Amino acid sequence: MFTILFLNQKGGVGKTTIADELAFALERRGRSVAFVSTDPQGGSVHEVCSEPELAEQCDFQVVDTAGVLKDGIREWCQDADLILIPMLPSTRDMEPTTRTYELARESGTQAGIFVVINNFYAFGILDRELVAYLEGEGIPVLAKIPRAAALSRAAAAGKSVADYNKRCHAIPALEELADKVTTEAEKHHE
Ligand SMILES: Nc1ncnc2c1ncn2[C@@H]1O[C@H](COP(=O)(O)OP(=O)(O)OP(=O)(O)O)[C@@H](O)[C@H]1O
Ligand SMILES: [Mg+2]
Repeated sequence: MFTILFLNQKGGVGKTTIADELAFALERRGRSVAFVSTDPQGGSVHEVCSEPELAEQCDFQVVDTAGVLKDGIREWCQDADLILIPMLPSTRDMEPTTRTYELARESGTQAGIFVVINNFYAFGILDRELVAYLEGEGIPVLAKIPRAAALSRAAAAGKSVADYNKRCHAIPALEELADKVTTEAEKHHE
């Protein structure tokens, strides 16, 4: 089992949306995924697996967390194989995101820690400045997910975005994220 932990102490950055879509993308590749949540009001499309023994048997465990980091997050960081920190391209997200990144690092985890920029607009000035800022800070970016209304509509319909609208422009970025996660998992198992 390869555990991917979604984390950001800022709420509403897309943790649940991206966790759900990553799980769907891994499932499309024929991999078994246990969706786990530390958030009682998670609101994921995936049914939450509450049996650790069951999760253990899956290829991947995708862990969604609540916006406010609660007790036990340190342990989740230590147990994770990959930590993904979604953030929005907004100056308001910088501080909570860098703080979350530091918190993950201070846990002493062996996991790779990456930011995922959500609602990314490739031609946005702030978006490009953010990428440059994170590079300068030595914080690696694993993926940039564009804003797409179909993502929330798909979730409301209880589906993956690929099932909801296969032409949605966010799908290539989500597939690329799943490719990179798969590569990280292969490196881990070597
Ligand atoms: N790339 C996107 N394009 C369009 N809408 C998005 C995108 N990502 C997330 N959303 C929408 O933004 C809202 C917040 O997303 P989400 O619930 O995934 O964030 P969260 O980090 O899990 O929030 P919380 O901290 O409350 O758990 C939702 O309504 C979701 O549908
Ligand atoms: Mg959430």
